[in-house]
Amino acid sequence: MSQDCHVVSERSPANSPGLTLALILAMLSSAFLTSTPQASAQAPVRPTSDQQVALVTGSTSGLGREVALRLGTMGWHVIVHGRNQERGMQVVDEINSQGPGNARFYAADLASFAQVREFGESLLREYERMDVLVNNAGFGSAPNERLVSEDGHEFRFQVNYLSTFLLTHMLMPRLRSSVPSRIVNVSSLAQSPIDFEDVMIENNFSGGRAYGQSKLAQIMFTFDLAEELEGADIMVNSLHPATYMPTGMVLRAGARPRATIDEGADAVMQLVVSEEIEGGQFFRGLVPARANAQAYDMQARAKLKALSQELTGIR
Ligand SMILES: NC(=O)c1ccc[n+]([C@@H]2O[C@H](COP(=O)([O-])OP(=O)(O)OC[C@H]3O[C@@H](n4cnc5c(N)ncnc54)[C@H](OP(=O)(O)O)[C@@H]3O)[C@@H](O)[C@H]2O)c1
Repeated sequence: MSQDCHVVSERSPANSPGLTLALILAMLSSAFLTSTPQASAQAPVRPTSDQQVALVTGSTSGLGREVALRLGTMGWHVIVHGRNQERGMQVVDEINSQGPGNARFYAADLASFAQVREFGESLLREYERMDVLVNNAGFGSAPNERLVSEDGHEFRFQVNYLSTFLLTHMLMPRLRSSVPSRIVNVSSLAQSPIDFEDVMIENNFSGGRAYGQSKLAQIMFTFDLAEELEGADIMVNSLHPATYMPTGMVLRAGARPRATIDEGADAVMQLVVSEEIEGGQFFRGLVPARANAQAYDMQARAKLKALSQELTGIR
């Protein structure tokens, strides 16, 4: 079910007329050469030295896709991420063909710490800068079924929160060397307090509770990180983008859409580019808002941080 983390930065040669010709020529020439030349792979798209770089996790669909496209139209280099390669490559193709920005796609399943680590290591190897990290990937409340990640943890807690914690810490050296940089954690108004006696929700499970717990954990992480990074010129914020946008997770849950994806993307983009805002906050759309009380409970935050460090191996 899970696939290895890998980067896909070019279309299959058969999909491009120019490359098809190159492939035919290479095949023809191979008939005449003792060593067989391969059709040369297209060079991966790279940012220029003065181009800003953003990673948008979960940008193969929905809100993340719209944010990635907007960054592309603003000239950014966008790292598109998700599990679905076909949808990921469609976003990359759209950004690369529209310009002025450009993009690459990386596949990594956030339900696997091994894939998150491989993804983070690839990015550290291949990118010298990272101006913005949008932690947007998420798995919704449906199905109302307790699922378990590859690492044996409650699924939403790992996909929506623990992997965000791990990836963000792994990318911190690039965010630090690219200051002023920003981290945007896409959370939700759906927030359920964490029961530290049963974080993996083995009792009284519901998909809504699991989703809400993971989304509150993201906000608690945001507040902690903003404090830890004070003075570092890395702005960290979280937000509820908009209520019931017509995206995959909302449609799967059978909810009737109430907002547009554009409204949610406007709210994310404000946290990416606005000079009018400060870090360490939770926003409801475009305005600062109060999160669930547990987000302001320092003991609860310390417990969550210690647990997250233990489960991800991050110190
Ligand atoms: N829609 C709303 O009204 C709403 C409201 C509040 C907050 N949000 C938040 O907005 C964010 C974006 O969600 P969306 O509404 O745009 O939903 P969506 O269309 O379902 O998009 C979810 C994205 O996350 C990726 N993803 C899911 N599971 C993953 C996994 N295990 N590993 C890697 N990537 C994974 C998906 O990629 P693949 O399909 O390629 O795996 C997809 O790109 C989420 O964090 C969500 O909680 C949404």
